[in-house]
Amino acid sequence: MNISETKATLSFSDGSQSVDFPIYKGTIGPDVVDIRKLYGQTGKFTYDPGFMSTASCQSAITYIDGDKGELLYRGYPIEQLAVNADFLETCYLLLNGELPNKAEKEKFVSTVTRHTMVHEQMNFFFRGFRRDAHPMSVLVGTVGALASFYHDSLDINDPAQREISAIRLIAKLPTLVAMAYKYSVGQPFVYPRNDLSYSANFMHMMFSNPCEEYKVNDVLVRALDRILILHADHEQNASTSTVRLAGSSGANPFACIAAGIACLWGPAHGGANEAALNMLKEIGTPDKIPEFIAKVKDKNSGVKLMGFGHRVYKNFDPRAKLMRETCHEVLNELGLQNDPLFKLAMELEKIALEDDYFVSRKLYPNVDFYSGIVQSALGIPVSLFTGIFAMARTIGWIAQWNEMIADPEQKIGRPRQLYVGAARRDVPTIDKR
Ligand code: SDX
Repeated sequence: MNISETKATLSFSDGSQSVDFPIYKGTIGPDVVDIRKLYGQTGKFTYDPGFMSTASCQSAITYIDGDKGELLYRGYPIEQLAVNADFLETCYLLLNGELPNKAEKEKFVSTVTRHTMVHEQMNFFFRGFRRDAHPMSVLVGTVGALASFYHDSLDINDPAQREISAIRLIAKLPTLVAMAYKYSVGQPFVYPRNDLSYSANFMHMMFSNPCEEYKVNDVLVRALDRILILHADHEQNASTSTVRLAGSSGANPFACIAAGIACLWGPAHGGANEAALNMLKEIGTPDKIPEFIAKVKDKNSGVKLMGFGHRVYKNFDPRAKLMRETCHEVLNELGLQNDPLFKLAMELEKIALEDDYFVSRKLYPNVDFYSGIVQSALGIPVSLFTGIFAMARTIGWIAQWNEMIADPEQKIGRPRQLYVGAARRDVPTIDKR
């Protein structure tokens, strides 16, 4: 980052000493005011619930322009990566900063492929869950438990141990997600196969069974691979910030990713794809859209248009457009062009985008609006949608965690507060309470 010639001066109307703060410029995007000395020089904190105007770190991984609807992974536009790269190339890019050449790709794919199995003891963790346990509860538990098998590689200050942990997490998440699914339907776990690509291997672990040959459909595999690319990273969103905050204490990467999975589960974040599909099912038919929209506009209803709105995108989410295209491809491949949910979603999107309530609040479809429909068409159950999101976002979390650990400026995250509770008072004995 570069220091700007312009400084920020904070002055007080009560005549207190004004204070100057340096301003830093990044490559693109908003400048930042460095307020690290604010408390020391003024005895005051900033106040920014939800971190609407706060940069928590400097990062070179992902950039979002919310007004232009632009998303760059290491400078490359998501629209180009979704067409000219696959998910493992994108993983390599996010982790290392550059796309792999042919030899680098072959080595990376081979390394990841040979880490897709989980320790056989992991099977016993599943036995403790109810069959109808939400897959995200299974993933929070099993991903955190992975740490118990890798005592040899938990030293976060050793780059080699950070690298093998990254490979293990990228490689094993699909296996654990598929195991969570198989456990929920009472079918035997399917071992990964080294002769299949990353996404084909996942589809095979999900849908093959011992009784018949499962043939992967290349169009569906490519669609899944694109879904993973679209969800791979997204600046300092809630779950990534959770991973960074957990990592800032020195926690091991498996524990940090488990924390990220827990945060992603929320319906305002990664749980929105599951909530969006359930919302479409609740609306049912296009004639019921006006009634639902009216409920959303009624603040007392607490009902939101799931899959719409975004903290950063105030124009459109480029991932939503690509997800809609992927939806078309998959439904055409499966002969489901008239899928009622897809047609309902497109009608709902059309009506919302013509309604001033949404336009005035800059609410547009986000990545979660269409992802549920395409995942349903791929045969993925609704409850597993956020698990797929977690599988994709693991690379983003790990790349951001890696960047934080290697950042000489990083310190344990410890926000302050504005205290509005009771002033000091004495404890009365119980007879006086
Ligand atoms: C993801 O951060 C990321 O990058 C996340 C993510 C990623 O890749 O990591 O992109 C993934 O989480 C996408 C978002 C998925 N969530 C949903 O689709 C859930 C529905 N969306 C909302 O909950 C909401 O839009 C958020 C949480 C996404 C953003 O909320 P903000 O930025 O805090 O905005 P806000 O709540 O202050 O909303 C501003 C106004 C409010 O109305 P007013 O008080 O001004 O009258 O817009 C309204 C909100 O009530 N509003 C909505 C709405 N979203 C916001 N009204 C109806 N439906 C919605 N979906």
